[in-house]
Amino acid sequence: PLARAQDVGQWSAQYIADKINAFKPTAERPFVLGLPTGGTPLATYKALIVLHQAGAVSFRHVVTFNMDEYIGLPESHPQSYHSFMHENFFNHIDIPAENINLLNGNAPDTDAECARYEDKIKAYGGVQLFMGGVGNDGHIAFNEPGSSLASRTRVKTLTPETRIANSRFFDNDINKVPKYALTVGVGTLMDAKELLILATGHNKAMAVQQAVEGSVNHMWTITCVQIHPKAIVVCDEPATLEL
Ligand code: GLP
Repeated sequence: PLARAQDVGQWSAQYIADKINAFKPTAERPFVLGLPTGGTPLATYKALIVLHQAGAVSFRHVVTFNMDEYIGLPESHPQSYHSFMHENFFNHIDIPAENINLLNGNAPDTDAECARYEDKIKAYGGVQLFMGGVGNDGHIAFNEPGSSLASRTRVKTLTPETRIANSRFFDNDINKVPKYALTVGVGTLMDAKELLILATGHNKAMAVQQAVEGSVNHMWTITCVQIHPKAIVVCDEPATLEL
């Protein structure tokens, strides 16, 4: 645990920059980075942009895969994860557009879209580092309680709890929050060489307690970190209240 949410952003950004630099990525051998959305990673993205501007890290040979996307929001909708990522990160770094991968929440055939995504991750040789947040109820990406720990990229129905939590981005109106999303599976995340989970604030205290001390189970999909060979949970003090 670190003292403040801001420190979580700073620490995780430096960790990611160090990983990219140590990998020495090239066009032929890019660094494959998995990314989340949400309020928690914003501090990390800000700190990564600062590191990039200072010349401490380049994303020219980084390929990204985002973990999830709402179904049915136009790409240009301010709350689509597509918009979120461009506005808060991609527009401020040197990543080539063709290196950015997001699930298409408007694909006519969602199963084909999910299969395409899994295949593309495989074609790059898998994800080196997947950064993630955690829902108040312990979900990782949009793997809601009850998701199989072996799940792959697919459509998920969002729980009312998740829709209520995310309604803060939709004028506090749950009816405006999409009911479905595309998400990488727990199995997809488990295949990443490394997991970096961020959790800040007392709302995440139960999820962090389950992640670290609970039994591995599909009702708290974040507990998958315990069976991952290399997972780090970075949190601030309020998120550790239940430990
Ligand atoms: C959404 C996202 C998750 C994220 C969670 C928590 O449900 N699909 O990937 O971890 O929200 O978000 P926040 O960081 O805003 O609390």
